[in-house]
Amino acid sequence: MWRVQLRLIVLPPPSTFRPMTLTDLPRPTSTSAGAPDDALEVRDAASGGAAKREYVKRIFSEIAPRYDLLNHLLSFNIDRGWRARALDALGWRRAPEGRYLDLCAGTLDVSAQLSRLDGFKGSVLGADFAEPMLRSGRGKSSEQVVRPVVADALALPLADASMDGAIVAFGIRNVADLDACLHEVHRVLRPGARFVILEFSTPRSAIVRTGYQAYFHHVLPTIGGLVSGHRSAYKYLPESVKHFPEQRALAERMQRTGFAQVSWTDLTFGVAAIHVGEKAS
Ligand SMILES: C[S@@+](CC[C@H](N)C(=O)[O-])C[C@H]1O[C@@H](n2cnc3c(N)ncnc32)[C@H](O)[C@@H]1O
Repeated sequence: MWRVQLRLIVLPPPSTFRPMTLTDLPRPTSTSAGAPDDALEVRDAASGGAAKREYVKRIFSEIAPRYDLLNHLLSFNIDRGWRARALDALGWRRAPEGRYLDLCAGTLDVSAQLSRLDGFKGSVLGADFAEPMLRSGRGKSSEQVVRPVVADALALPLADASMDGAIVAFGIRNVADLDACLHEVHRVLRPGARFVILEFSTPRSAIVRTGYQAYFHHVLPTIGGLVSGHRSAYKYLPESVKHFPEQRALAERMQRTGFAQVSWTDLTFGVAAIHVGEKAS
């Protein structure tokens, strides 16, 4: 049983959902289609503050039906391997029957991947505040093992020290208050449990950085905009990476929160990185 502290909102069984039709797909609006004034909105949201929470919730809710397709397309499927490496770092084999948190779970890729690993006998709580993202991910795994929950990463409906590990993939950069989120994850972990962060970063090599920035700032918003009808969302992505702390700074913030044994590994020339920290026993 999940021990809950606040109200736990678990989605109803799939049979109660209205089937998704083409008319459910987001229609491009003047903002979502990339009107000139969205540059300001994107910059404001990426730099944090009050606007960020609502902006992030809205864009992910709107792009949810196209999220998986674009994710794998725009990352040339490399994201799957990155998620597998992040799950390795979680150390779930130390407690294969444990309870794990997939934070900012989106369409539940990480949750599903964890639930399918050979020897995993535990359960996963997939928490995200954008319900359409969780809905899009339904059916990827058994709901006996993976439970989607509509919840904010800054106020998790979980008891203190109730989780055997937590992981967040490409999510923490989107949270309006990074330090508050680190504290919240630290609160819900058992002593000795690990927190793994998989996130984009800016490559250090000038050559790689040039190619990466051309791709991130031009190719990605164009393809993302065309396929999802939401250019603003795909312009937000590189902006948000720009405002996210680089690897050493993130590690220091994890340490300041109380995580021990903090380390990180760069992935694919530093385009992404995995950070790992342990709640001190
Ligand atoms: C880029 S997606 C990542 C989804 C998934 N983890 C993956 O690997 O594909 C980021 C997700 O973070 C969620 N998110 C952002 N801020 C959040 C918050 N404060 N609380 C809960 N979810 C949040 C968004 O709704 C979105 O689904």
